[in-house]
Amino acid sequence: MLNLNLEELQQHPTPFYVYDLNLLRQTLQAARQEADKYDFHVHYALKANANTPVLDEMRQNGFGADCVSGNEIRAAIENGFASKEVVFAGVGKSDEEINYALEQDIFCFNCESSHELEVLNELAAKKGKVARIALRINPNVNANTHKYITTGLEENKFGINAWELEHVLAQLQTLSSIELIGIHFHIGSQITDLSVFKNLCTRVNEFQEWFLAHNIQLQHINVGGGLGVDYYHPEQQLIPDFEAYFGLFNQFLEIRPGQEVHFELGRALVAQSGTLISKVLYIKNGQNTNFAILDAGMTELIRPALYQSYHKIENLTSTAAEVRYDVVGPICESSDCFGKAVLLPETNRGDLIAIRTAGAYGEVMASGYNLRNRVKAVYLH
Ligand code: LLP
Repeated sequence: MLNLNLEELQQHPTPFYVYDLNLLRQTLQAARQEADKYDFHVHYALKANANTPVLDEMRQNGFGADCVSGNEIRAAIENGFASKEVVFAGVGKSDEEINYALEQDIFCFNCESSHELEVLNELAAKKGKVARIALRINPNVNANTHKYITTGLEENKFGINAWELEHVLAQLQTLSSIELIGIHFHIGSQITDLSVFKNLCTRVNEFQEWFLAHNIQLQHINVGGGLGVDYYHPEQQLIPDFEAYFGLFNQFLEIRPGQEVHFELGRALVAQSGTLISKVLYIKNGQNTNFAILDAGMTELIRPALYQSYHKIENLTSTAAEVRYDVVGPICESSDCFGKAVLLPETNRGDLIAIRTAGAYGEVMASGYNLRNRVKAVYLH
């Protein structure tokens, strides 16, 4: 059961996200401690959650910023991240976003195609700047995760394929406003099978050999993010196993002298610290199914509807005997369902429901569909 002060929660109009900043801090300190053992650089992936109090914690705990839009770069910089700690990825960076990133003099553009290199070179040249880049390589490693959040297979739109690299290197010789400083990988998200990362290390080592054979010393290797969290038993693993995760990269990645290793973690840093709190509006008893209809829906948390993902659901106010419910939202879509046949204490109108492990890719993916109000956030310090 969630360790939140019920009386405090009951003071806020629902639905809202509640963030446990103490747990967030403990999580970041654990990650920091393990990454520091090997001098690894960790950029926080803002796409997971870009709320100011969350960004403050990230910055105060020494994380850089991994951004995928101009607005994310702006949010990072406005929240005090040094531009030298900002990396910028994405398959479709607009000219405006690239220009803004160039003006901010960010650490590195993670470039995803040969065409992008051409455009970046042109825009950097116009400003009389040299853009530092890492080539995002598609390593063709299966992440064993949901297909919508798999990014490292050749069929995915991300990165430069191995067979294109020869051409890209030749192209880079002609682009004088670009400096190649690293290679970048990101194979997917919510990865719980750590052997996937071992496979990634093997591929990265092969790519390193290839670059060395072409007389290119890479200043840094960026292995992306993707470490998963336990959605089924949040309280059993509120803090992910950063020791095993970073230790694995230290063991299997062949790091050259002087070379930096960078990471881009999102979910693992913030998911367990956030919970969506909602009130039960109605109970509808069917022949085979009972529905608990909440005042939160897919507009507040789209993950179950979009990825069929599981989030643990708890009734915070009832202790009655357990009954099964389909827990659904108010939106006019059948996919607006948080869980089917969920066992909950007998539930009534007005009960408070917690949807756990929602700190990452929850509030940021909220929408205004059905002209819903923007979901609020509450912070526990
Ligand atoms: N780096 C790059 C280039 C990425 O594309 C991502 C996530 C990350 C880092 C951070 O990955 P993480 O450590 O959070 O797994 N909305 C989906 C997840 C999409 C992830 C997109 N890229 C979900 O709710 O599961």
